[in-house]
Amino acid sequence: MTQYAATRDRVETYFDSTATKTWEALTSDAPVSGVRATVRAGRDRMRDLMLAQLPVDLRGMRILDAGCGTGAMAVELAKRGADEVVAIDISPSLIDIAQKRMPAEYARQITWGSGDMLDAAKGRFDAIVAMDSLIYYSAPDVAAILGKASGRLDGKFIFSLAPRTPALMAMWRIGKLFPRKDRSPTMIPHAADDIAAALRTAGTLGRLTDVERVKSGFYISNLFTFEGQS
Ligand SMILES: C[S@@+](CC[C@H](N)C(=O)[O-])C[C@H]1O[C@@H](n2cnc3c(N)ncnc32)[C@H](O)[C@@H]1O
Repeated sequence: MTQYAATRDRVETYFDSTATKTWEALTSDAPVSGVRATVRAGRDRMRDLMLAQLPVDLRGMRILDAGCGTGAMAVELAKRGADEVVAIDISPSLIDIAQKRMPAEYARQITWGSGDMLDAAKGRFDAIVAMDSLIYYSAPDVAAILGKASGRLDGKFIFSLAPRTPALMAMWRIGKLFPRKDRSPTMIPHAADDIAAALRTAGTLGRLTDVERVKSGFYISNLFTFEGQS
């Protein structure tokens, strides 16, 4: 995994200090400005679409929320009856917020942890959900994440990535031309074909499905699923 550790370290610095407060507000119920409200609406839609990839009744399932942030997805998975939700994020500050926000009735089902989403010690899963948490990784790293996770997965890896639209590519190029001085991670737009090619290069067998794109104001994200073949 070529740049994986370096990207993850930038993501950790960003979410654990630079952007903790902004992210806490965006993911709360508190009123936000017009632009952020459209982002929030888009993210709510993406969460619903991701959940729709799973059975309505999640009883009997053990699910990983990979890069869980402040925990909205993990709580939804618990609400739908998942036996165990393992909710992991590289940012301890976001995990603290998630734990405080969680309604007490789900405490028995959700195991929170700060660390790497690929930590093999977390065991096997029936599904993995990664909402907007792979958006900073290169195509070879996304393929490596899918390959590594598939080895301990008995169902779908459900994830979202920023799509390669002309607007996002232009923004990305500007970011590349004028690198920021802080350690903010850069979102990398991807085309489905690039992820499929990276999976082939890595020798990772399975079915990649390009499910649906969500666009709401400044939020644009593409939902995918991957089902590995061992
Ligand atoms: C854009 S936020 C999305 C958070 C959450 N999934 C949501 O939709 O609200 C991306 C999250 O992924 C986490 N993340 C990224 N790479 C990670 C890794 N390798 N291991 C664990 N967490 C990671 C970040 O810390 C951050 O909280």
